[in-house]
Amino acid sequence: MKKLTLFLGILLSFHFCYAQQFEFTPNYDESKVPQFKITNPLISFNGRKIKNTKRWEKVRRPELLNFFANNVYGKVPGELEISKWEVVEENANALNGKAHRKQVDIVFNKDGKTLFFNILMYLPNNKEKAPLFLGYNFYGNHAVCQDVKIRIPDTWARNNESYGISNNQFTEKSRGVRKDSWQVEKIIDSGYGLATIYYGEIDPDNNDFYNGIHPFFYVDGQQRPAANEWGAIAAWAWGLSRAMDYLEQDSDVDATKVIVFGHSRLGKTALWAGATDERFAGVISNNSGCGGAALSKRQYGETVGRINNAFPHWFARNFISYNKNEKALPIDQHGLLALIAPRPLYVASAEDDRWADPRGEFLAAYYATSVYELYGKKGIPSEEMPQVNQPLINTVAYHIRTGGHDVTAFDWEQYIKWADEQVVKNF
Ligand code: GCU
Repeated sequence: MKKLTLFLGILLSFHFCYAQQFEFTPNYDESKVPQFKITNPLISFNGRKIKNTKRWEKVRRPELLNFFANNVYGKVPGELEISKWEVVEENANALNGKAHRKQVDIVFNKDGKTLFFNILMYLPNNKEKAPLFLGYNFYGNHAVCQDVKIRIPDTWARNNESYGISNNQFTEKSRGVRKDSWQVEKIIDSGYGLATIYYGEIDPDNNDFYNGIHPFFYVDGQQRPAANEWGAIAAWAWGLSRAMDYLEQDSDVDATKVIVFGHSRLGKTALWAGATDERFAGVISNNSGCGGAALSKRQYGETVGRINNAFPHWFARNFISYNKNEKALPIDQHGLLALIAPRPLYVASAEDDRWADPRGEFLAAYYATSVYELYGKKGIPSEEMPQVNQPLINTVAYHIRTGGHDVTAFDWEQYIKWADEQVVKNF
């Protein structure tokens, strides 16, 4: 009997998990978006008005950062410096002589454990110190460009036949498969460098915590981070900061002009990296959606409950308390965007990417604008979204382009134009 009850119990909980995860019907009807109040980013949690940048930096910014660290992405439990870095390959005449290619291993050692990630860099040969876009890739460094010299990571990868990934390993077949989304030549021709890393090298994107960087901080017997400690997004963001530690040492890079970029879950990561590390001179969120730029309280497309169920390892466990309870959030994602002020921020959406809630992404940028204005910077002037394919380029920039969830040449053209105007020229 006991056994039967146990069996039925297990069966039932499987059923619930399954139901919660997959019987979710997203709302795509604007008229069904619930009524909610947007928290003013310039009023502190205890009701004080923030009237100048000094108060913002002393009171409000730290309390917001603290909220997101403890309740959304999770805190990094300690410090770990790069043990060693090594340029494992380079060529000053890459891309038909236009670029200097470097592949650099960044190594961490602690208590007998080792982790490394490889940064692939292309730097324009016509610049002494290049401004640079730094971003993770989903399918290996060798997927971003058709260049036979790019090393293929031997880390775990999610199987994907069309991208040449089988037995959880990348293969030659993945070379260049994402080149359209990276536009390496366009970036180089515009005078920027690119640095990219396969995100799985910092933490494989699986619902477990025994591999990647998390165990480096465990005390004896610990198997997963505490409820207010880092999930995978914060771990990936941490990796971007360590990449920045390296970039600051690289004399071919202008480390004062490193723009952190990310698409989708890696867009969420870029935003959190930009919020936590003020060395990033600019931040690009490409279709980052729920837990990224989109306002959670709209519950349009993906919701907090759905994301925590489908990707339980991405956020701090504390974030679960907002499942189907977005209204309890004392600040929405516009507070995350405001943490990037006064540094340039680009939020981009795609018309058919309703899952990521384009309007919610736009509104978050709009509601973060008051903080930019405190610094005399221009953000999003009105609640009215710009037309499709009509970028709005200020210190806070926004566009919604035609098409779906992706990074396209059009996106990169706008990022470069905005970077020219807002990051390089305005510096
Ligand atoms: C899923 C997830 C999104 C995420 C996306 C991605 O669609 O629900 O939150 O942004 O994957 O990273 O591609």
